[in-house]
Amino acid sequence: MNSKKNILVIGGCGYIGSHMVKCLLTAGHEVVVLDDLSAGFADSLLGGKLIVGDCGDRELLNQIFSQHKFDGVLHFASYIQVGESVTNPAKYYQNNVAKTLTLLETMKDHNLKTLIFSSTAAVFGEPDYSPIDEQHPRVPINPYGMSKNMVEAMLQDFDHAYDFRSVALRYFNAAGADAEARIGERHQPETHLIPLALQAVLGKRPALKVFGRDYETPDGTCIRDYIHIDDLSTAHLLALEYLWNGGETAAFNLGNGAGFSVQEVLDAVEKVAGKPVPIENTERRAGDPARLVADSSLAKKTLAWQPQYPDLSTIVQHAWQWEQKRPTC
Ligand SMILES: NC(=O)c1ccc[n+]([C@@H]2O[C@H](COP(=O)([O-])OP(=O)(O)OC[C@H]3O[C@@H](n4cnc5c(N)ncnc54)[C@H](O)[C@@H]3O)[C@@H](O)[C@H]2O)c1
Repeated sequence: MNSKKNILVIGGCGYIGSHMVKCLLTAGHEVVVLDDLSAGFADSLLGGKLIVGDCGDRELLNQIFSQHKFDGVLHFASYIQVGESVTNPAKYYQNNVAKTLTLLETMKDHNLKTLIFSSTAAVFGEPDYSPIDEQHPRVPINPYGMSKNMVEAMLQDFDHAYDFRSVALRYFNAAGADAEARIGERHQPETHLIPLALQAVLGKRPALKVFGRDYETPDGTCIRDYIHIDDLSTAHLLALEYLWNGGETAAFNLGNGAGFSVQEVLDAVEKVAGKPVPIENTERRAGDPARLVADSSLAKKTLAWQPQYPDLSTIVQHAWQWEQKRPTC
């Protein structure tokens, strides 16, 4: 393990960022968070110093990079709703691409050239095969996925031109919560299956819609890859250490490798909650592939990453504990 480092976490008040802050603090590092609180919550931070601001604000970034000497930057800040990205692409290209370019330029100007970037399975579009490895063609089918793909391309170019080292981590579905339920998933609006199912059980929302039961999967429902939020955080820390140890710019797919069907998730929720999830069966949704599962063998081999919570029951258990005690927003 490396000695104490100074890390800037952008978007650290969000779901994944707040668990990352926990992971960094536990590892003994110093953390500064930059977040505009557009979708995050200051009280999701278990420590570190919060600067409220926009990661596209060049003046603010210059100020921050002049005042602090960072060993690396973790960039979680983006808008994340696929549907909204289709109806309002400008919002997504502005926040996710243009502001990230300002961030990268400013980092380069301050000779800070170590970055971990939150990418997504959405860069692949409709899968040609599954599990999806890093060689799979990247053909995003919505502006959200495209915005992440564009940043990945910028990161490659920054590497070639400026020796700017980065790791893009393509998550499939982040899930679960802190085992002590201090922090957890808190999206507004929520679009992810596990919290939606838990909230339906708790009567916080109407019946959960199951989109299609006629897919070519063993139980007919779609299969997705869920990775525990703490395992995801550990992968980021390992990716930082990889870069500190001289690793080259890279992109890794991160998932469990084992997909779980929508029905398996509903069964796991029922088991944990002790009652069935109210559901409404509806037609398939356009653009929903039958299977989206990551091949994470490259990350496992290169980063020596090994998920600690590969089983769905622990992921759902932790999410359930959080869901029962979380604030209303
Ligand atoms: N949640 C998932 O399953 C998932 C899957 C794949 C990829 N990702 C990626 O992971 C990252 C984090 O996702 P999340 O689920 O934690 O989302 P989130 O919305 O909970 O967190 C994003 C955070 O970024 C902040 N933010 C947004 N724009 C900003 C800006 N311009 N300046 C400063 N702060 C800004 C928000 O306030 C929020 O705190 C995103 O980049 C997302 O695309 C998430």
